[in-house]
Amino acid sequence: MSGGTGSPLDGVLRRLGGRLAFGGDYNPEQWDEAVWKEDDLLMRWAHVNLATVGVFSWALIEPEEGRYDFGRLDAHLDRLHAGGVSVDLATPTASPPPWFTLAHPDAMPVTAEGVRLTHGSRDTYCLAAPAYRQACVRIATALAERYGDHPAVAMWHVHNEYATVCHCDHAAAAFRVWLRARHGTLDAVNDAWGTAFWSQRYGSWEQILPPRATQWHRNPGLALDYRRFWSDLALDAYREQRDAIRAHTTPDRPVTTNLMLPGYQVLDLWAFGREVDVVGIDHYPAAPGIDAAADTAFGADRARSFGGGKPWLLIEQGANTVYTADRTLPKEPGDLLRLTLAHIARGSEGALFFQWRQSRAGAEIWHSAMVPHAGPDSRVFREVTDAGAVVARLGELTGSVVRPRAAVLHDADCWWALDGQGLPSASLDYHRELRRAHRALWDSGITADFAHPADPDLGRYELLVAPALFLLSDADAERLRAYVHGGGTLLVQHFTGVVDERHHARIGGYPAEPLRVALGVRVEEYRPLPAESTVSLSDGSQATEWSELLRLTDPADAVASYTEGALAGEPALTRHAYGSGTAWYASTRLDDPSYAALVTRLLTESGVRPETAVPPGVEAVRRHAPSDDRSWLFLINHTQAPVTVPTAGHDLLTTRTIPPAGLTLPPGGAAILRQDPPPS
Ligand code: GLA
Repeated sequence: MSGGTGSPLDGVLRRLGGRLAFGGDYNPEQWDEAVWKEDDLLMRWAHVNLATVGVFSWALIEPEEGRYDFGRLDAHLDRLHAGGVSVDLATPTASPPPWFTLAHPDAMPVTAEGVRLTHGSRDTYCLAAPAYRQACVRIATALAERYGDHPAVAMWHVHNEYATVCHCDHAAAAFRVWLRARHGTLDAVNDAWGTAFWSQRYGSWEQILPPRATQWHRNPGLALDYRRFWSDLALDAYREQRDAIRAHTTPDRPVTTNLMLPGYQVLDLWAFGREVDVVGIDHYPAAPGIDAAADTAFGADRARSFGGGKPWLLIEQGANTVYTADRTLPKEPGDLLRLTLAHIARGSEGALFFQWRQSRAGAEIWHSAMVPHAGPDSRVFREVTDAGAVVARLGELTGSVVRPRAAVLHDADCWWALDGQGLPSASLDYHRELRRAHRALWDSGITADFAHPADPDLGRYELLVAPALFLLSDADAERLRAYVHGGGTLLVQHFTGVVDERHHARIGGYPAEPLRVALGVRVEEYRPLPAESTVSLSDGSQATEWSELLRLTDPADAVASYTEGALAGEPALTRHAYGSGTAWYASTRLDDPSYAALVTRLLTESGVRPETAVPPGVEAVRRHAPSDDRSWLFLINHTQAPVTVPTAGHDLLTTRTIPPAGLTLPPGGAAILRQDPPPS
């Protein structure tokens, strides 16, 4: 991709005429010719330049095993191309057709309870079933052979949201192969899983099963290894399709898959980030208002981090209502543009939606779309066209990057391990802690990265927060020690570093030894607090859920101690100057205001400042040109009040020059200030 900006989307953006991407999933198979004609007009009107095509079209493209019918797809790609719309062409493997189920019943997934599922929905397949994997490669190859060079095709979209986990015999066989590769011998597996306890010793590989329904707690080592295995298996399945496509397309057409964020944790997204040409995510906020904005930042910052800081792409968002776990959530007027800009601010090279036209039948008729049931004469479509017009003006941002100075440490293994059974408190929740750490930084106006503890370059951050690194290898603990010694500020929160990568408890005190050195603290005992109870600390902080008996080793300061209960008088919150840096330890779960106050203190101490002073609920995020001679400050007011920001620049949204006195953003308003050269 020479001659570009260095964005992994350079080839795509060139096909889009240098504009950022705007569009969505396009499923013309649900409609007829009259509607396609209207689509062509409306897409132009809405400045759509990229459509994701074919995600769920397996049954139409391959109506019988081995017989392909590309007629309709040919016509749609040609039509889109003629209308100036490029295509993100999907392989349809997330929804095998009914003929596949009947021909290969063994490729249908089995739940932990032993129920074999069948077709009639989607995502119904077993990634370990040879017949399914072969069928996926066949259809990916057929599509790539036919469309690898098609002028409409700008990028490739493998599958849709890899998520299904299976417990069948194929999965069991593949798990055993994976275990041999990871552990080498059966003795090593027995040792890793601690099978001496509860008479679980395995005498042959065939005795090992997936984590199917059991009478009582599962073995945590087995459960964790299965999640690692499944993520690796999904990555293998992805790579197989990716490589089949690459063999027939050009290198400037990136291949990716759409990862589901922010709460999705079936996959090690760091590993996927290394294998996709560009990180693509789907994002549907689970809460309204300011929480939706914070949630957007959480998903977007993770997307960017999984891609190593490179630009990425929002592949799906909702134009209006979306289903959350327990309800349907509408987008309020103005949210569509604001949240679109919030993704772009954090490195997305555009914004796509699910889906272009709201279905009139099928499983997702009530899920919103860019063209709602009401048609183009609607608030939603007007907001879509307005957002399309705005995004069309942002081409100069291509390739620019966000450079956070603070990061939250994040590891899939910890999430999986804390998702297990038999832990000392039911309230330990990795995802909640991860979100809260990010939210506290977001509320302080700080754009944060996520970083993996094995990252060899943690020193690029001035501040690291480790909200729940329950599982930590010796090597990663050593890296964190060295980070502090080298001048970093590190906050370690309760129940961190207490098991190693095999899920074996640390003996002799928690956390892992190098972290104890950095923290000047040894955790002697954990004492979960009863549900609903709180504990007060000597600095006025309140805490819940958890407490620990600490011993200060190298003189660490007890910044706050417990004032009540069994640990009254014992240190709760400590600070340790170590080498050129500082390591903090919070042995209890501070309540939100106390946690926010601690994060504020850490920001001051580490010198991490917001891009510009803005009140809570207003985002100030900067994208830097790769050449560093220019930057763009995104200002997004998610609040109901006007906000004045004293910053000059050229506003890409209004095309006005903003004087040094700054500008006032109305409630819900936004600006993107080109600042040239960037202020130091
Ligand atoms: C996911 C899927 C889409 C659609 C949306 C609806 O992101 O990829 O196919 O189901 O959710 O929210």
